[in-house]
Amino acid sequence: MEHNKSIVVLDFGGQYAHLIARRVRQCGVYSEIKDAETSAEELKGAAGIILSGGPQSVYDPKSPQGDPALFDLGIPVLGICYGLHWMTKALGGEVSEGKTKEYGKTKIHIEDSEWSEADGIPQDLTVWMSHGDEVSKLPDGFTRVATSDACANAGFTHKEKKFFAVQFHPEVTHTEYGEQMLANFVKQCDADPWSIKSYTEHIGEYLKKEVGDRKVFMLVSGGVDSTVAFVLLNKVLGEDRVQGLYVDTGMMRKDETVQIKKAFDALGINNLRIEDASEYFIKKLTEVYEPEAKRWIIGDAFLSVQKRVSEEMNLKMEDGWMLGQGTIYPDTIETGETKNADKIKTHHNRIPEIQKMMEEGFVVEPLRELYKDEVRALGEELGLPHDLVWRHPFPGPGLGVRILCAKEAEHATDTLDISIAHAPLPIKSVGVQGDGRSYRHAVALFNDQKFANAECWDLSTSIPNASEDFNRVLMCTSHTSAPEFVFSPGYITASRAEILRDADAIAHEEMVKAGLYESIWQFPVVLLPFGTTEGGVSIVLRPVESQEAMTANAVDLPKEVVVSMTKRLLSLDGVDIVFQDLTHKPPGTIEWE
Ligand code: XMP
Repeated sequence: MEHNKSIVVLDFGGQYAHLIARRVRQCGVYSEIKDAETSAEELKGAAGIILSGGPQSVYDPKSPQGDPALFDLGIPVLGICYGLHWMTKALGGEVSEGKTKEYGKTKIHIEDSEWSEADGIPQDLTVWMSHGDEVSKLPDGFTRVATSDACANAGFTHKEKKFFAVQFHPEVTHTEYGEQMLANFVKQCDADPWSIKSYTEHIGEYLKKEVGDRKVFMLVSGGVDSTVAFVLLNKVLGEDRVQGLYVDTGMMRKDETVQIKKAFDALGINNLRIEDASEYFIKKLTEVYEPEAKRWIIGDAFLSVQKRVSEEMNLKMEDGWMLGQGTIYPDTIETGETKNADKIKTHHNRIPEIQKMMEEGFVVEPLRELYKDEVRALGEELGLPHDLVWRHPFPGPGLGVRILCAKEAEHATDTLDISIAHAPLPIKSVGVQGDGRSYRHAVALFNDQKFANAECWDLSTSIPNASEDFNRVLMCTSHTSAPEFVFSPGYITASRAEILRDADAIAHEEMVKAGLYESIWQFPVVLLPFGTTEGGVSIVLRPVESQEAMTANAVDLPKEVVVSMTKRLLSLDGVDIVFQDLTHKPPGTIEWE
């Protein structure tokens, strides 16, 4: 869609760009992320430009550099952290290595009382810093606004040009008045107002233009995104120009298919075909162990089923059918975290065959500009029931990425020097550390309470930080000391999927009963191929709190909930051990594969 007077966030790396864009949108202005190198010519129509933070030093030869001509456009600019360094350098100031590096909460003092009072921000406040370099000389025309103990130039501005720069991160919640500071910048920009309500009104026109007189065939998983996209397409184009396909992969949750059907019936939507392809999927995954290989095969299998069904239904591309997908914003732009995230895991809606169709103009993605919380708001605007809109996200490959497969036990070599009882586990899982994907062991902690105390939570961060061998830390909630692990080689089978489906249903029921459903973002339940008996398995509870899944915190569940979940899980045939995953993201990912 065209967004003329919007605020552009130039992405200099890391995860900050998404956070900034979301905060700006919460101020009622559309914000989009663009590559750091975007030319000034392309930025001409923007109402404001925000230069994001990033992990590098501005003097690093490989560090991202923007187009300095953007400072001549007469548009307000806000530089944050690395963005402030690059802005300083580009405008003739000096950046040098700070004497003291500042990480975390830091007190700053706003010197310019006019700046502070007018905006309702106190002169002394705590902000979140994360930097090594600092500005040693301001560019001409700038005046200093804020200082901290270690950083003389924590904030400065060029009032006439409406250039602002802060060393700290106003976009993170640890910065007091951070939202207000961003809102103040937004007020300086001549931006068009934007809201999900107005977006809903306009997206219809956009979709009509994009689809033209063609028709859309779309995979619907029952998850929030594809459901909202499907309902939206139905509303805009009419049922006779849309066909939905729900594929039962054999790796869906318990009663999922029945529930989906019921929900769509209640919405009066009749153009959804339900296809049971469970045998086909499970067969394709025979003897597949490697996580990325599983994702590719699942992605391919979706496409084959879709092709077969579209042929059966005579929905041909040459007759004007195109493919609809529920892809959302964080998955679409190819910068920063997304570039990074793509390398960490291949998402099923970005496999090469789909990419090729996209290039040829055969794919429509109605939600490609929205964040998850905005998709939910759009769902509510469309009148979808609350329960459907607020469902936890469920990955396309379903339980397939939660059944950990391994051909043989793999053992960690690192030994940990910690005082608490622990045991490395004979499997590996995916994580995200530094800038890339990690594939490392998990270690389990044990205590008499079978419950994580403060020390265990501290270890969940310190172990992956210090060890080359571990990226996950679990609490064993079924045993007080490490049992002997009996490993059973395993790939995805119908019976393993069935055990996990039951385990997932138990965790779900207990979470709902405890009133935790709305406060938890997502609660994967994972099956590991070892237990205490031949053929036995372990179950991992992985509740997380998050906003957009780019970072996440493992949830500290109440003890009674852990106890009752564990008890019920152990009563399942074949389940020998239960763990709770204490790892945040980073260093873990939400899913294990
Ligand atoms: P990770 O594991 O990367 O997951 O921390 C972040 C979010 O993405 C979901 N996820 C997927 N969703 N197809 C999807 O539609 C996929 O292949 C996929 N892999 C992960 C995951 O459930 C979490 O919400």
